[in-house]
Amino acid sequence: MAIANRVETVVTTKEDAGSKILRHATILSGQLQQLRTRMYPPKSEKTLRQFLTNEVSKLTSIPDSTLKLMSSEGRGPVPSRLENNHRVYTLEQINELRELFAKQKPAEALRFLPRRREGEHLQVLAIANFKGGSAKTTTCVHLAHHLALHGYRVLALDLDPQASLSAMFGAQPEIDIGANETIYAALRYDDNERRPIRDIIRKTYFDGIDLIPGNLEVMEYEHETPRVLAQKSTAGAIFFERLKLVLAEVEDDYDVVILDTPPSLGFLTLSAIYAATSMIITVHPAMLDVASMSQFLLMMGDLISVLNENGAQLDQDFIRYLVTRHDPNDAPQSQIVAMLRHLFGSDVLLPTAIESTAVEAAGLAKRSVYELEMGQIGRDTHKRAREAVEAVNEAIIRLLSDSWGRA
Ligand SMILES: Nc1ncnc2c1ncn2[C@@H]1O[C@H](COP(=O)(O)OP(=O)(O)OP(=O)(O)O)[C@@H](O)[C@H]1O
Ligand SMILES: [Mg+2]
Repeated sequence: MAIANRVETVVTTKEDAGSKILRHATILSGQLQQLRTRMYPPKSEKTLRQFLTNEVSKLTSIPDSTLKLMSSEGRGPVPSRLENNHRVYTLEQINELRELFAKQKPAEALRFLPRRREGEHLQVLAIANFKGGSAKTTTCVHLAHHLALHGYRVLALDLDPQASLSAMFGAQPEIDIGANETIYAALRYDDNERRPIRDIIRKTYFDGIDLIPGNLEVMEYEHETPRVLAQKSTAGAIFFERLKLVLAEVEDDYDVVILDTPPSLGFLTLSAIYAATSMIITVHPAMLDVASMSQFLLMMGDLISVLNENGAQLDQDFIRYLVTRHDPNDAPQSQIVAMLRHLFGSDVLLPTAIESTAVEAAGLAKRSVYELEMGQIGRDTHKRAREAVEAVNEAIIRLLSDSWGRA
């Protein structure tokens, strides 16, 4: 009674901590919603820009002159014309061209249409590190875009309740993603609510990329799993296999599945690591980030031993470290990069994800550097950023190709 009275007195004279935090949360989320709406109106459907002939030629290895000849002879997809009369192609048209050339020149089909062949397994690539802001999502988006622009079939899977990857694909977690529409729907333990993975896969505006979105709902998996584990003594091996098993259902539809993981080492991240055939660990070259990565590796090592004790074998084609948001002119960063290379040798990817205002600006507009049009940002900045991103993605594609046994 005495306490209740006191609380009441405090409340009337001074706002208590709980109410204050809630009030601030409401003010802030209202403000953020306004900002978001201004920068990215909810009704605006994302669309992909079109590509000039020289870009199409670079992406497909079909010579410029051939494309122009085909267009003037009315063969193949019909490009649109810009005001300056330059030809532009949609990604759908670029993919049509790929199919056409692969059919016409079967001996060189792989050059035009690099998707995997018989005997080449689906690559499930997890991008992980529990350090927040180590550019996991940015790496996922740029890799997905690069792969799709080069004719691969990609499934992007958002395992993060923050759902930044989904947002990059135009699916706003609070608005466009309803209940039972995330990966949780395919993983959940209650049989009557669980949905086939195929039902939660969405097409995106980016031809060749499908998405399984995330939002807060995926956290349910973190809450449900320990409950199920506690109930069933035999369920030890079940939780981490579920993701791998559901991905197997759509194996034939894709060349690469990209898993964007949350900045935590929970059951979802662990499932991702188990489902993955390869892994990229993103690391920002700063002392605190490297210390955090060391913790991540220790914990992951422990957890993998637990999986092994449960009879699970992790057999990944490759694990690489990718240096992200790298400023090569920053001396302390250079020291850390040198240390990582010294310690881990070729396990650190040679190209690095260079820190760039182009990547940052594109990210704010929910775009990758591949989507920026000339003139949206300084020409040199854009070009440098794009080259750096491409070098990283090409190094990853080489690893994928190696794992497929391609020369
Ligand atoms: N190369 C880069 N140059 C400049 N900014 C970058 C670069 N890479 C990422 N960023 C920016 O850094 C921020 C964090 O990146 P991102 O969201 O990809 O990290 P993350 O590891 O996915 O974070 P989280 O752990 O919260 O999921 C974003 O604002 C992104 O735009
Ligand atoms: Mg992220």
